[in-house]
Amino acid sequence: MKYIVAVIQPDRLDEVLEKLTEKEIHLVTVSNVMGRGRQKGIAEVYRSHTEAGSLLKKIKREIAVNEEYVQPAIDAICSGGRTGQIGDGKIFVLDMKECIRIRTGETGGVAIG
Ligand SMILES: Nc1ncnc2c1ncn2[C@@H]1O[C@H](COP(=O)(O)OP(=O)(O)OP(=O)(O)O)[C@@H](O)[C@H]1O
Ligand SMILES: [Mg+2]
Repeated sequence: MKYIVAVIQPDRLDEVLEKLTEKEIHLVTVSNVMGRGRQKGIAEVYRSHTEAGSLLKKIKREIAVNEEYVQPAIDAICSGGRTGQIGDGKIFVLDMKECIRIRTGETGGVAIG
């Protein structure tokens, strides 16, 4: 099981959602966050996102998946999120030890989705 954290541009949210849905990945947590990459927020201002200091508005998506969905999720986020410009974002893939559905007490892969 993996926990995928992706930071993407706000204007790519719909496209990424569409691509994930095509891969039958429906369960997701989305947050509005601030961040900066290696340009330290400076060179990206032209992409018309509000600036607070050197931080830019980003969307964070978090998805817990079974192993067979790891590559499809990465592919979907890349194809939906990529414009080729700086600041397109980043994907972090973490090993996930456990997942518990609170309502039923189910654990592991069956609890994911
Ligand atoms: N190493 C990191 N640790 C934590 N968050 C990061 C890291 N790298 C990027 N992020 C987050 O991802 C967002 C987008 O990063 P960004 O795409 O600008 O990465 P980059 O390494 O600067 O690549 P690029 O040169 O394509 O812009 C950042 O604003 C930040 O929120
Ligand atoms: Mg950057």
